[in-house]
Amino acid sequence: MDEAELRRLLQNIPLRGIRYRETMTSTNDEALEWLEQGAPDASLVLTNNQTKGRGRMERQWVSAPEASLTFSLIVQPKTIMKALIPFYAPLSGLVICKALEQHVGLSPQMKWPNDVLLQGKKTAGVLTEAVWNESDCKGVVIGIGLNVAPVSLSDGGDFSLPVTSVNEVAGRELDRWHLLFWILDTFFRERAEIGSETFFGEWEHHLAYRGEKVSIIPPAGIPFTGKMLGINQNGDLRVELDDGTTKEIAAGDVHLRYDSGG
Ligand code: BTN
Repeated sequence: MDEAELRRLLQNIPLRGIRYRETMTSTNDEALEWLEQGAPDASLVLTNNQTKGRGRMERQWVSAPEASLTFSLIVQPKTIMKALIPFYAPLSGLVICKALEQHVGLSPQMKWPNDVLLQGKKTAGVLTEAVWNESDCKGVVIGIGLNVAPVSLSDGGDFSLPVTSVNEVAGRELDRWHLLFWILDTFFRERAEIGSETFFGEWEHHLAYRGEKVSIIPPAGIPFTGKMLGINQNGDLRVELDDGTTKEIAAGDVHLRYDSGG
C-alpha cells in the first residue's frame, strides 16, 4: 500500500499525524523521536518492514514484512489522567481483542497484563513507553505488533508461549490494512473508558487462565503458584495461594505462566 492509499483508508480515524515508511528499525523509536520534536496527540507511526523491533522486558520483537502489522500510536494524556498511564498497555490489548471479536469473529484472550492470545497462543504484543519532563508526561508511545499471517519465527525470546497468527486461527486471509483500520477505530472509541469500571470489567472478562493454576515468577525472588482469581481496580492480578490467602501482584517485571500441573 502506498502512503496516499493509507491516508485515504484512515481518513475517518481521528488521527492528527501519520508517519509511514516502507522500512523502519522500530516504530516505537521513531515515535519517541517524533514526540521529542512535538508530535501531537493521536499521531501514528507505521512501517511495512520493522527491522529492529523491541518487545517488553528488553526482548526483541521479530516480525516479517507483509505478515505482520507493526505500528505505534502517540497519545498525550491530560495531566489529570497521569495515574491512568499504566493502563494504556492493557487498554490496547483489550482494543485488539475487541477488534478481532467484532470484525473477524474470533475469541481472543489476554495473558495478563496485555499480551493478546488466540487459542492460547501469542498473537499480539504491546510495548508502551512514557516520556516524562520532570513530573509532566509529554506523551505515551503505544507500540503494537500483530501477527496477521503465519510466522515461522518466535516472537524473539519469549519461548514460554507458542505463537500464532490471525489468519491461521480465522482460517482465511485477512487484509492487514483493514485490521489496522479496525484496531485504530476501536481504540478511538474505547480510549475514554480507560480506568473506568467497564474497562476493568472487560479486561478481567478477557483474562486467560481465570480460575486456573498459574505460576508467578518475580524478577528476583521465589516463584510461586496459585489460582488466578482476576484483577483488582488497580489492574493488579489477584491470585489465591495454596494456603487460601489472596495475593495481589502488580504488573512490573513479573512473569506469568500457565501451570499445566505437570
Ligand atoms: C511484547 O514484548 O510482547 C511487546 C511487543 C511490541 C512490539 C511492537 S511492534 C511495533 C512497536 N515497535 C517496536 O519496536 N515494538 C512495538
